Amino acid sequence: MQSTLLSRRHFLTTACAALTGSVFAAEERLRSLGVPVHQEKLAYSFESLEPWLSGAMLKRHYEEHHAAFVKELQTLVKNEELEVGNVISLMPGMDRLVQPARNDSRIPLGRLASQGLSFEPPRKFSPETVQKIRQAGGGHVNHTAFWRFLAPAGSGPKGPQEETARAIQEDFGSIKAFRQAFKEAALGRTGSGWAWLVYRPDKCLVVSTTPNEDNPLMKDHVAWEKSGRPILCLDLWEHAYAEQFGEDREQYIDAWWKVVNWDFVGRAYRIVSGLPL
Ligand SMILES: [Fe+2]
Repeated sequence: MQSTLLSRRHFLTTACAALTGSVFAAEERLRSLGVPVHQEKLAYSFESLEPWLSGAMLKRHYEEHHAAFVKELQTLVKNEELEVGNVISLMPGMDRLVQPARNDSRIPLGRLASQGLSFEPPRKFSPETVQKIRQAGGGHVNHTAFWRFLAPAGSGPKGPQEETARAIQEDFGSIKAFRQAFKEAALGRTGSGWAWLVYRPDKCLVVSTTPNEDNPLMKDHVAWEKSGRPILCLDLWEHAYAEQFGEDREQYIDAWWKVVNWDFVGRAYRIVSGLPL
């Protein structure tokens, strides 16, 4: 039994490393943006973001909507016998993920048979399973980022700092132009989805949006010009704002700017652009 577990762990580790590349596999400093298969405790209370965002609304968002994605993901991980330390590792190549081999291929078939076991080679996950990874895994990654990018008003800087500010100015012309571009993108996304500030592989910062629980890490599902590593995100699902703002998404965006955690945006920028922390 032990050899079986070792085999699956070894295979998945190898498969994930091959699929996700060096971006997520090896560098210790990048792990600080990793997402575990559970819900993080928040560094602030729900009420501490008032009056900009309602504590009751945030509590429901965290304890009901985000928690539902986590529960669904944990069920999937258990049923599919996935061993996932960092949910982000599933995002870039989810369509090419393979299920680990059942039982150790190094054990002679005769010995497996004598134990009532058989060797089953690795196989692709079903489209239904991939869709669940996309929805529940994406939902968990996106919400984890959403909470990290929030902080009580006045607890940190009011806008991007230092190299993050310089990069935004370089790519958007000014901080004001970036805010406008982000807001227009967020208002322009019809239905449920997310708005992002993305650091692309070509080192450009761009604003993009994705539908449902997709995110810019999902290379198989997002156009290359929108793909990359997010350094800021905003939840555009109605559950994120309708309770407080009704259908007025613009009012929600204006309030959300007041509680953006610019310290963490700066940290994320340094990590994704390879600068020392
Ligand atoms: Fe949400």
